[in-house]
Amino acid sequence: MTTEISDITSDQIAAGQRAYELDREHVFHSWQAQGPFTPMTILKTEGSYVWDGEGNKLIDLSSQLVNTNIGHQHPKVIAAIQEQAGRIATIAPQHVNDARSEAARLIAQHTPGQLDKIFFTNGGADAVEHAVRMARLHTGRHKVLSAYRSYHGGTHLAVNITGDPRRFASDHGADGIVHFFPAYPYRSYFGSATEAEETERALKHLEDTIILEGPSNIAALILESIPGTAGIYLPPAGYMAGVRELTRKYGIVHIADEVMAGFGRSGEWFAVNHWDIVPDLLTFAKGVNSGYVPLGGVAISPEIFETFRERAYPGGLTYSGHPLACAAAVATITAMEDEGMVENAKRLGEEIIGPRLAQFAAEHPSVGEVRGTGVFWAIELVKNRETREPLAAYGGSSPEMNQVVAAAKAAGLLPFANFNRLHVVPAMNIEDSVLIEALDRLEQALDVADTFVQ
Ligand SMILES: Cc1ncc(COP(=O)(O)O)c(C=O)c1O
Repeated sequence: MTTEISDITSDQIAAGQRAYELDREHVFHSWQAQGPFTPMTILKTEGSYVWDGEGNKLIDLSSQLVNTNIGHQHPKVIAAIQEQAGRIATIAPQHVNDARSEAARLIAQHTPGQLDKIFFTNGGADAVEHAVRMARLHTGRHKVLSAYRSYHGGTHLAVNITGDPRRFASDHGADGIVHFFPAYPYRSYFGSATEAEETERALKHLEDTIILEGPSNIAALILESIPGTAGIYLPPAGYMAGVRELTRKYGIVHIADEVMAGFGRSGEWFAVNHWDIVPDLLTFAKGVNSGYVPLGGVAISPEIFETFRERAYPGGLTYSGHPLACAAAVATITAMEDEGMVENAKRLGEEIIGPRLAQFAAEHPSVGEVRGTGVFWAIELVKNRETREPLAAYGGSSPEMNQVVAAAKAAGLLPFANFNRLHVVPAMNIEDSVLIEALDRLEQALDVADTFVQ
């Protein structure tokens, strides 16, 4: 165990134990069988560290649910929330509020093209729901295309749009959703041998799907610019541009879901910038204010805005543009700008994470593939490199993966794991030395994964 015991007091540990008991008695957790769930207590957070219920200091390699893009407890963001709370803690969405106006201005300044009208939501799923509603009203069409191996949120429509097993239990009632196979070179659905082949075949499949579903029925295509929880599988060269071309060709609203990839995580303000494409709608959440207060939204193109210039938009939320959340967004985006965090994320990917993960791939037989950009990386663990058999089946866990994750925690990390993958998704401002230490610790977990290679 390489974890550091911190200055956490016995009183804090006792308070954490009491919190744990109350949690198990009263808190109903997301995505869990409630009985066997044994959540980790967190007593303290700071920068790229969290302290667990026993007082162990862990490096946060997860950014929680990939949202604390500027790390924990950034003093300027905390101060901004406190200042806003002291002034106007809340106000209804129909009123003008300085924090909301400034947050919208700053977001619009960074979104690509002219996506400079901002509708605020409480998080990512409702941003997706509203983007789809806007697209349907704008086009007068109903169907929505979305990729398998994607995640778009937990609310009813968003989870039906989602292309991962979290959809299965709710896979009804959201009519008009059509899933297509994404470009995913490592596990190609098209039998492609090269990235160029994958791009060509995936685009042909997408166009065939559009034609067979009836282009005049399709309101929107929603796609994560870089799929996040589904595997950080970067689209091969030409794919995103090709998708954009198809959406234009058939008059389909292109919704780029940047809830996870946006606000610097990929080393660009928005991941679509990697391919110089401008969608019609862009959904965001998480990184916009590092998740310090719930916030999401939709950035809207001038054409779609025009649809609602004279016609009321039939949708809203009590907390749309909540002042505390918006004050946190203003401070977060300002801190990202002032401290060069997006550039730093790019550098960390190029200079530290990329090369180290390449070394993992070269030296650890359990590593099937590593891929990513900025502070947004995945390691695919396999039992066999030839067959690419994953260390846990799609949609599930496995005793082997559980041991790998346990080893990462025992080594002093808070990892992000999904099925057979470990994601390396630290804060954009993690110190170089802390990141290097985190990767050293992660390698200890890979040693465990190697023992399962057949
Ligand atoms: C790409 C993407 N879209 C939407 C969502 C849903 O966001 P939220 O959990 O804030 O509703 C997520 C959450 O992980 C996401 O990664």
